[in-house]
Amino acid sequence: MSPLPKPVTPSGPQKPSDLPPFLDHLARDLRMRVRTGRRSALGFDIFFVDFSDWKLRFSDRTPVIYVSAADVASMDGRALAESLADVIRVENLAERNPVVLVEGDGAVLRAYFRANYLPAVVLDAGDQERVRTSRRPTAELLDCISPQLALALIAPYETSKPVTGSRFFGREYDIRRILYAGDANFAVMGLRRIGKTSLLREIERRLVEQVQEQEDRQATARVLYMDCSSIHTVQHFVQEVVRALNPRELVRLEHRHLPLYFPDFLGRMAKQHRGPLIFLLDEFDALLDAQLNSRGLLDELRSASNQGHCRFVIAGFRRVLEAFSDLNSPLYNFAKPLRLKEFSREETANLIFGPLEKLRVRFERRNEIADRIYDETGGQPNLIQYYCSILVQELDRTQSRVISPDMLFHVYDDPDFLTFVLNTFLDNTTNLEKAVVYGLLLAYGEEVREQRFTLDDIDGILKEHGIVATFDDLNKSVRNLELAGVLARQGKDFHFATPVFPDVLRSSYNVEFLLYKVQEEGVW
Ligand SMILES: Nc1ncnc2c1ncn2[C@@H]1O[C@H](COP(=O)(O)OP(=O)(O)O)[C@@H](O)[C@H]1O
Ligand SMILES: [Mg+2]
Repeated sequence: MSPLPKPVTPSGPQKPSDLPPFLDHLARDLRMRVRTGRRSALGFDIFFVDFSDWKLRFSDRTPVIYVSAADVASMDGRALAESLADVIRVENLAERNPVVLVEGDGAVLRAYFRANYLPAVVLDAGDQERVRTSRRPTAELLDCISPQLALALIAPYETSKPVTGSRFFGREYDIRRILYAGDANFAVMGLRRIGKTSLLREIERRLVEQVQEQEDRQATARVLYMDCSSIHTVQHFVQEVVRALNPRELVRLEHRHLPLYFPDFLGRMAKQHRGPLIFLLDEFDALLDAQLNSRGLLDELRSASNQGHCRFVIAGFRRVLEAFSDLNSPLYNFAKPLRLKEFSREETANLIFGPLEKLRVRFERRNEIADRIYDETGGQPNLIQYYCSILVQELDRTQSRVISPDMLFHVYDDPDFLTFVLNTFLDNTTNLEKAVVYGLLLAYGEEVREQRFTLDDIDGILKEHGIVATFDDLNKSVRNLELAGVLARQGKDFHFATPVFPDVLRSSYNVEFLLYKVQEEGVW
């Protein structure tokens, strides 16, 4: 890990008076974290301010370029703007929403940045004064900043990568359960894109933050995130753990008797790191298969955790879920199950309104909007994110800051959104589950949106297409479709959870063809 710049606190080694007055004010009076940076090649000081609490697209190290009164006096406005543009380019700051703090008037700079599509924010002397004299200084600061950037640049929506820190929403209960559970191991399970990696990464971030606050550098190495998707054997797993913790021991690994060596290794590493190691093992499914074919990896991991050397948080989807439905599974003795669910209506509303209202976007008929988005996305965080990012693009395009229920109709016109909905479905379902959905669509036609059906009905429909499933398979399929947010259950009856989903499928594909293809590929 690269060394971090030192945080500036009033008691820190860097005297606050060394900071520009406005940053000193942020650090002292508003308790924001300000880090001293470096002097850029072109002679401007660069600082880093932690704006991550805003839960927007500002990092905990948002760069602030300081333009002193002497700088302002030494160049004309345009030359200064050109020089700053060079700093932003040379220092690679353009994608980090840089802030230019000017001890003077910022109008010329602002105009220059806008004309040149440079995503930089100018805080001039007038802005600084407004913030300093405001009785709601943080909000005032945000009000100075946000109108200067496109919403898409500062809204925190992220659809294609796991999210952490200021982009991580909800799940507080799950996080606390894991962080404060003493030494229990956990198995996090849920669909693709429900947020497993994000949860693991956020836990990693918070653990590292905790130990950093205790100034225990070595301890940060105790937290280990590993993506296990390409690890298919126990041997390989052990090798990767050794590589991460003490690569020097790799050479002699082949000759070791792993069941003895591995627990001993973990014990030694825990001692060396002065505390238990915490493993966050993502995409654990394949390894679970591997462990079933060999002697118990889980047993070894469990004994290491029983001895207090390590804790494990594993995450996975089908295999992990299946293992927990089998009472004889070794997972039962190893970890507590934690099922990652869709967002609640409240979490959904927080993800929509939290960031956008902070950016002064106004909502007409707020409840109606929250209900609609919650219903249409089934609370799947990734879909909500996608939905919100389309709304943000639409606001930027129309230069508007108002969202009304009418605007939501645009979302379903968006071809990317349709593809996204379909891919989520295709990714998360087996062929038998797909056959159930296609069969229902064919059997009920347009009516399927409002239709209720039972397991018995589904069985009949599948049989019409020559698919005979056992009760167990049928039951599992509908349960997983429920999990995938496709079907919802009321007592014995099922219905489509999001009425638009069947419409989307039908308008994009020939459903008969889809059914034919899954049958051809095989439903088992
Ligand atoms: N806690 C969260 N807050 C906000 N968005 C989330 C959260 N968890 C997941 N998402 C959304 O879902 C997407 C997929 O998350 P990811 O953690 O990669 O899921 P998984 O590992 O289960 O496949 C993210 O890109 C993001 O859009
Ligand atoms: Mg993942």
